[in-house]
Amino acid sequence: MGVSRHLLLILISVSLVHSEDFRLPETVSPSKYVVDLLIPHEVFTGDNTTFEGEVTMTFTVTESTSQIKLHQRVNGTRYTLFNEDEEISVTNEYNSVTEIDTLSTATNLTTGVSYNLRTTYYATFESTAMKGFYISTYKQENGTIAYLVTTQFQPTSARHAFPCLDEPQYKATFVISLTYPDGLTALGNTNIKSNTTVDGGYIKSTYEETTTMSTYLIAFIISEFTCTEGDTIASGVPHRVCSRDEEVNERKFAVEIGPPLLRSLESITGIKFGEYMPKMDQVAIPDFSAGAMENWGLVTYRETGLLYNEEDTSSNYKKNLALVVAHEFTHMWFGNLVTCKWWDYTFLNEGFARFYQYFAAATTQQFLDWQLEKHFVVEQVHTALLADSTATAQELTSKCANSTEVSAKFGTISYNKGASIFRMIETNILGPINFVYGIRDYLSLNQLTGTEPQDLWTSLAKFVPASNLPASTTLEAVLENWVEYNGHPVVKVSVNGNDVDLTQERFLLSSATNSERAYYVPITYTLSNDTSKFSNTTVKEWLTPKEKSVLLEGALSNSDWIILNNRQSGYYRVDYDDTLRTNIISQLHSNHLAIDVLNRAQIISDSYNFARAGRNGGYAPEKWNFQKVFHVLTYLHHEVDYFPWYATIIGNNYLLTRIGYDSEEGKLFTSFMLTLMKEVYNTVPFETLDPNNQVYSMKQALILSKVCQYGEETCISYAKNIFAEYRENGTKVPKDLKTTVYCNALRYSDDINRDYEFLWEKYTETDLSTEIITIYQGLGCSQDITLLKQLLGQTIDETAGIRTQDFANVWSYVYTSSKNGTNAALEYITENYVELNDAYDSVGSLISTIAGYIYDEDQLEKLDVLANNEKISDAHKTIVNNAKKSATETIQWAKNLKEDVVTFLKEYEGENGGAKMSKSSFAIVAVLLLLQKWLF
Ligand SMILES: *[C@@H]1O[C@H](CO)[C@@H](O)[C@H](O)[C@H]1NC(C)=O
Ligand SMILES: *[C@@H]1O[C@H](CO)[C@@H](O)[C@H](O)[C@H]1NC(C)=O
Ligand SMILES: *[C@@H]1O[C@H](CO)[C@@H](O)[C@H](O)[C@H]1NC(C)=O
Ligand SMILES: *[C@@H]1O[C@H](CO)[C@@H](O)[C@H](O)[C@H]1NC(C)=O
Ligand SMILES: *[C@@H]1O[C@H](CO)[C@@H](O)[C@H](O)[C@H]1NC(C)=O
Ligand SMILES: *[C@@H]1O[C@H](CO)[C@@H](O)[C@H](O)[C@H]1NC(C)=O
Ligand SMILES: [Zn+2]
Repeated sequence: MGVSRHLLLILISVSLVHSEDFRLPETVSPSKYVVDLLIPHEVFTGDNTTFEGEVTMTFTVTESTSQIKLHQRVNGTRYTLFNEDEEISVTNEYNSVTEIDTLSTATNLTTGVSYNLRTTYYATFESTAMKGFYISTYKQENGTIAYLVTTQFQPTSARHAFPCLDEPQYKATFVISLTYPDGLTALGNTNIKSNTTVDGGYIKSTYEETTTMSTYLIAFIISEFTCTEGDTIASGVPHRVCSRDEEVNERKFAVEIGPPLLRSLESITGIKFGEYMPKMDQVAIPDFSAGAMENWGLVTYRETGLLYNEEDTSSNYKKNLALVVAHEFTHMWFGNLVTCKWWDYTFLNEGFARFYQYFAAATTQQFLDWQLEKHFVVEQVHTALLADSTATAQELTSKCANSTEVSAKFGTISYNKGASIFRMIETNILGPINFVYGIRDYLSLNQLTGTEPQDLWTSLAKFVPASNLPASTTLEAVLENWVEYNGHPVVKVSVNGNDVDLTQERFLLSSATNSERAYYVPITYTLSNDTSKFSNTTVKEWLTPKEKSVLLEGALSNSDWIILNNRQSGYYRVDYDDTLRTNIISQLHSNHLAIDVLNRAQIISDSYNFARAGRNGGYAPEKWNFQKVFHVLTYLHHEVDYFPWYATIIGNNYLLTRIGYDSEEGKLFTSFMLTLMKEVYNTVPFETLDPNNQVYSMKQALILSKVCQYGEETCISYAKNIFAEYRENGTKVPKDLKTTVYCNALRYSDDINRDYEFLWEKYTETDLSTEIITIYQGLGCSQDITLLKQLLGQTIDETAGIRTQDFANVWSYVYTSSKNGTNAALEYITENYVELNDAYDSVGSLISTIAGYIYDEDQLEKLDVLANNEKISDAHKTIVNNAKKSATETIQWAKNLKEDVVTFLKEYEGENGGAKMSKSSFAIVAVLLLLQKWLF
């Protein structure tokens, strides 16, 4: 046995590290890892945070080389390298910035030879970061703290559990052994092959060799968890849901929906799950930083993403659960079987997972009436367009190298825009059947390997109807345009006699230099006299980067209106000229049902964003202001569908954050909104609960929470009465009313100390994660600054039991809920800067986020006080000063907005003979009648 030396090169200046240094050369090709880990007893009593490991990597080289580069973030590594016959001596040099260890061999390694590299090491569990191999804790019923160890490797943390080539393209098989205290439960990607007892009260479980897979998909968990097994996925392929035993009754829903969701995906992809993995376990982890993780055969979740209580968990959480499970299950094919070659193409994993989490679930028996394809549009397409509206928005394909850059690829663009583009390809260009053929071709040609976008285009191109492409253009050219460049277009529609002119322009929220970009835009449209309205989503015309305009000759010879982008299947906004918009608004008033519900939602969302951009000097400032938006919104007084209201409330949130709920203009606006909400409010009375009707329940939760927040009196008294019943008589609040009732009972409380304490007491009594979050949200609605600051303090006080994973939620419930909440957050930071900064490492971004909720002058002074705090770091002082600058601009800017509100509502009042806005229901009816008169 030769001696290996271990050199730690610590002093590497960051500036000397180039981005290419973060990537491995493609010279080493691992085929198998044998990983052996020991987790000592004391880890499970909180007395040790170290584990020991040994890993043997079998590999070949693709060219003669004297270097092996691999990732590691462990300690005390000792390397031994050997080929079949003998040991080869190695030295190593570690770079702690890139986390790459470079091993040098005395003689060159050659192709065609199989090498084994054995590494022994130890490492410290992560305790707060919730990544790599880390410790999570929870309180058992008898009050004892239980410890468990679990993993989160994506994107770059497998190296923390074992040295490896930690990039997705280096796929290998894994044989994992875990040595842990006898009596605990160990879970891995595959089934346990053998158990042996080890001295000292340990058991060693060795798992079946996995299929060929990427390092980031490996997972293992050692805990006192128990599991519930329901139906198998297929004969011999079990499905289980595991959690701490206390939550045994909350697993039922996940147990029921798991197998049918996997089978839906099997029938879409044409590939059986069991072909590659022998089982599926889904596990709820008490401390978890992401939402969930698609480890192959061992999917992990936040508890809120997997555990469901029939009586207490709301329909919103239920839908979220179904979507998250469907998302992770989609990854079993898109991500696990076929993997993006590098994180530049994260959208190949995440875009598909986001797409099928809706569209595969939509074909599953349990969710047929959930209208998931509609939720997709307002939840994914609308949010993608917004995130994609700045000059610096990320491209779908963009370079990343270091771990910060890699993490930044896991955001709205890769997920929401990726999914939206896939939907455009499916509905506008290929059609659903061809799309499935293309997908199957892609999966079967690339299984067990890494892919680039080109591989997907190649498969899709085999099935694209030529007539659906722009003249003499390939599918690849069309799609490269969408993934290589950021942004998206707005299609401007103008009428000229009976002709309609379409022109594209890039949509930007504020002025920018790269506004000239143009896209391949698949145009679909519906005319008022079309018989099959909106259902045909196959492209009819193309706008292209070269031909930015198209004339639809005579389109309006028999029609009053034209609406583009049927069901918002294309990834673009649409702006109509005044004549066309007026005609559309008329139609919305006379019979809004003549226009597809998703197009109604698009018209609202687009209008709000056009006005926002117009006020920013971005898109069409000369044309769009908020008064125009309000004109569009007037039709809502007879809108009772969830989706247009969803889009409206997103727009309202933006507006009200800028002008303030409690400003004079804010009050005018919420009164106006309440008159429009009268009818939809009547469709979801507090008394009528219908938990089996998913969309109804979501609509009820959305509408009631806003009607109360906007100050409607009957709503507030309902909320207060239901809460009082709970407080005085222990009558539980119905699950879908909880958010509304907790929040508004506290917001409008007559005795805030009593009500706050009561709800906090309920928090200490419950173990259910969805209930805990709902209570945090309710507490955050309090208007008492002292209590709010106390709540914020509890996020860094271990005895309060608020988990690190919930820190950001609790804070945002406070600073987004009201002006008092924003003020409480600013004051808390000022008064407790040192403690907060010690406990939380992103105080800087917290400050700038909170400052985004400032809307009046006296709040600016709070920023001054913070900036003048002598303890504050220079970096944070800069952040505060920048935040102040931008808040000042926002306040200035909001003056225009306020003018829009006042001007519009004055005109409106004038037309109505001076009708007074009121928050009481009687007046709302009166105003509503007037409103109808005014409109026609
Ligand atoms: C913790 O466990 C490691 C690994 O088994 C061992 O080397 C170390 O001595 C232990 N430390 C303590 C404080 O028990
Ligand atoms: C040995 O490997 C180095 C790179 O590590 C390479 O430059 C050199 O050409 C190789 N030598 C032989 C003899 O192949
Ligand atoms: C392990 O190594 C890291 C740096 O790679 C170091 O920060 C840490 O203190 C080491 N831990 C132990 C227990 O030696
Ligand atoms: C508490 O309960 C757990 C799990 O049931 C058990 O392992 C532990 O020994 C109990 N602790 C005490 C102090 O009773
Ligand atoms: C190994 O032990 C675990 C319990 O610790 C048990 O569930 C499993 O069935 C055993 N597997 C084998 C192959 O013995
Ligand atoms: C990673 O890249 C970002 C931006 O590209 C840079 O700001 C940061 O310093 C880099 N981090 C390291 C550790 O090189
Ligand atoms: Zn995902």
